[in-house]
Amino acid sequence: MAALVTYFQLFSVLHIVFFLTVPARSLVMTSLPAVKGAYSSDPTTFPPSVVDTSLFTHIYYAFLMPSNVTYKLEVSSSTALELSNFTTGLRHKNPPPATLFSIGGGGSDSSLFSRMASKPTSRKAFITSAIEVARKFSFDGMDLDWEFPNNAKDMKNLGRLFKDWRQAIVVEAKATSRAPLLLTAAVYFSVDFFLDTVYRKFPVRSINQNMDWVNVMCYDYHGGWNTSFTGAPAALYDSKSNVSTSYGLRSWIKAGVDRTKLVMGLPLYGRTWELKDPNFHEIGSAAVAVGPGDKGVLTFAEVEEFNKKNGAVVIHDMDSVSTYSYAGSTWVGYDDDITATLKIGFAQALGVRGYFFWALGSDSNWKISRQASRAWSLGE
Ligand SMILES: *[C@@H]1O[C@H](CO)[C@@H](O)[C@H](O)[C@H]1NC(C)=O
Ligand SMILES: *[C@@H]1O[C@H](CO)[C@@H](O)[C@H](O)[C@H]1NC(C)=O
Ligand SMILES: *[C@@H]1O[C@H](CO)[C@@H](O)[C@H](O)[C@H]1NC(C)=O
Ligand SMILES: *[C@@H]1O[C@H](CO)[C@@H](O)[C@H](O)[C@H]1NC(C)=O
Repeated sequence: MAALVTYFQLFSVLHIVFFLTVPARSLVMTSLPAVKGAYSSDPTTFPPSVVDTSLFTHIYYAFLMPSNVTYKLEVSSSTALELSNFTTGLRHKNPPPATLFSIGGGGSDSSLFSRMASKPTSRKAFITSAIEVARKFSFDGMDLDWEFPNNAKDMKNLGRLFKDWRQAIVVEAKATSRAPLLLTAAVYFSVDFFLDTVYRKFPVRSINQNMDWVNVMCYDYHGGWNTSFTGAPAALYDSKSNVSTSYGLRSWIKAGVDRTKLVMGLPLYGRTWELKDPNFHEIGSAAVAVGPGDKGVLTFAEVEEFNKKNGAVVIHDMDSVSTYSYAGSTWVGYDDDITATLKIGFAQALGVRGYFFWALGSDSNWKISRQASRAWSLGE
């Protein structure tokens, strides 16, 4: 039996979310249009032709990497074909979303970015190449996903990189009389790495001055790297820790980043565990291993399939604002359209610019993407 949240309950929770948010959305209305973004991690198996572009304003090609010798972006002939397919395909959709490419990614070499950002000459080589690739393949912008700057020095250099990058964008736009390219970055859920032994904080001033916005990765709070306990991978609230989306987004605001420069991440995937005892299936229950999926990761479409096939119990946990399901000893933490909608309400009350998904192809018949887009537009 699925635990169903009635619309009355949903409505009440939405109100609570609105009233509890600190300080309510400022009265100064911004004219900036909302960002409804998505990273496309698999443009070949999930090509532009199948994307419902009415649901997204910005679509990111993920990922490109720089050479670790020259720091210029490496674009093989097959990648070149993929890039032009991506931008051409999306440009001909109705409506056409803006396109960006993202550089780096979760598994990429962090030390390469550290070396590149540390010197004016290597920053310049990287930036010049990125702008060249953007124009050559008709992208509207560029995104950096350096996971992660490892120390205070890296963070300082990241601020310099953003500054140089913005300057180069302005110069190029003037010289070519074209609209300036967009510049965004994917960043940690919190403005500082308060959990790590090496404390470091993102360069707030440089972000405000040089970035169009940052995509705050409000997910991966718990996962298969800790098989002892289940956890809500992208909880909005956590009464026992600061590892939550509400804490993370507020930390960025508290540090002085303009709200309009913040875009909230939403996962279109779940994380799985095998419970120690199937009778204990709350969030935080003892577990012994990861569950189904590659390293315990299932796309939202796969979670729905799993739930259906196994008659899983689905719970909408209103303390954390997250969804989980269990069947036998398997436990899955994720967001569905209901909890994603509640987070949208939170983000709008906070006054941030929009939301983005990782990743485009993981939704189930656009269920979450459509509900999120609708909810954001209703709340505007
Ligand atoms: C660059 O990458 C190659 C291949 O991964 C590696 O062998 C080489 O040591 C790297 N160079 C530097 C400067 O890190
Ligand atoms: C590019 O698009 C064409 C036709 O739309 C397709 O046949 C081809 O496989 C695509 N190539 C890549 C690399 O995506
Ligand atoms: C796993 O998570 C639990 C609960 O959050 C924590 O007490 C424990 O230290 C974690 N273990 C590892 C190896 O991170
Ligand atoms: C959360 O962070 C605040 C400061 O931002 C700190 O005062 C509080 O102790 C933290 N809570 C936990 C559970 O770590």
